[in-house]
Amino acid sequence: MSLVNLSGSKGGLVLSVLLVCSLIFELEAQEQRTTPGRKPKPSKANVVKSTNKGPRSVTDKPTIRATPAAPAQTFLTQVVNRGKFKKVGESISVQTGDTLELRCRGKPVHWSVPSYLEEDDDGRLSIVQHERYGLLTLVNSTGADTGEYTCFPMYCEDSDCRKEYHKAVKVFVFFPDPQELFVPSADYYEVIQLRTNWPTVLPCQVTSPQAKVTLHREFPPAEVAVDGTEISFNVQKGFTIHRPRPYHAGALFCVASLGNLRQSSTKYMLIYVNYPMAPPAPVIQASSSVSLGENLRVSCSAVGEHNVGLEFTWEYPGQQIGRPLYTEESITPVAGGGGASRQQSQSVLIVDEVRAVDQGTYTCTAHNLQGATSVSTNVKVLPKAKTRKP
Ligand SMILES: *[C@@H]1O[C@H](CO)[C@@H](O)[C@H](O)[C@H]1NC(C)=O
Repeated sequence: MSLVNLSGSKGGLVLSVLLVCSLIFELEAQEQRTTPGRKPKPSKANVVKSTNKGPRSVTDKPTIRATPAAPAQTFLTQVVNRGKFKKVGESISVQTGDTLELRCRGKPVHWSVPSYLEEDDDGRLSIVQHERYGLLTLVNSTGADTGEYTCFPMYCEDSDCRKEYHKAVKVFVFFPDPQELFVPSADYYEVIQLRTNWPTVLPCQVTSPQAKVTLHREFPPAEVAVDGTEISFNVQKGFTIHRPRPYHAGALFCVASLGNLRQSSTKYMLIYVNYPMAPPAPVIQASSSVSLGENLRVSCSAVGEHNVGLEFTWEYPGQQIGRPLYTEESITPVAGGGGASRQQSQSVLIVDEVRAVDQGTYTCTAHNLQGATSVSTNVKVLPKAKTRKP
């Protein structure tokens, strides 16, 4: 039992070095399910402040700061002493070097941790499932451990378990590092696609929620205005460019300052990509019947943004026997209001000298970066027309 271990040796130097920051996630989900009409409990998380001023305090204790919790069915508790728990909010700060201990009620539970910790298993992280809760322990913490820690209760039938996503509880943990204001990155620079009208995040993650962070363009050197609308900042996420435009492209970086320390983040190379707003909406057209020996044309077309790639693939009855069909593809500008220029892409599937095997369903699938949409039409092959030719 972790509680016993944590508080079992009184006055030991060992214990005061190993820290005292345990948190408990407790779920009230079951209760909520049985009483669906109940209003969510008001969060009391924001009243929490560290009061770790016990007699054993020979080292700096972790500072626990809480921001208001989301109105979820969850609360977090910090273990401060034997059997004493304190609720915390959606984020906490744990001094680097200290141990983070998170407890999550459930049997069993699954944990997700910052990806760096998952990939780089150096023995500092341990996850133990107890009878009624899961325990996550991270020792010798560093600023790089900063990130989101999530517990998913599992629903099990026999040995078959799945995560209960709606009951997930998470806490964002900062590990303020006196030397590193930014969570270190393995790469000197990071390439980020700016997609038309899609929010883009520059994840310059700071290790301390107290750091003041600004955004800068490398060339020409300038600070980028962060107005909260076009570009906003969130200390757990970084900068978000909400509706990217071509002029946002270029090399950017973040600068964090705290006390006398001022540091630059990794560089972000922002590349603008014309990106479709939505999956394509193709239209298929063919004559519903064709006579043996005639030529068949099935056309598939979709209108999309100018300069946005669109591809077509086909499925047709003669495919199985390797019927040699061919397609003609074309792109034409579409006149239209609204300022945004659009284009029509078309693929025409051509069947020369129709045979009986060509009867059936023709399916065209239009693909763009957002997805693929299929449309179908049926073609009937009729006996040879006798006097069709003019
Ligand atoms: C944590 O740090 C201590 C002191 O440097 C070291 O002895 C110990 O092996 C470390 N533990 C892990 C799991 O890395």
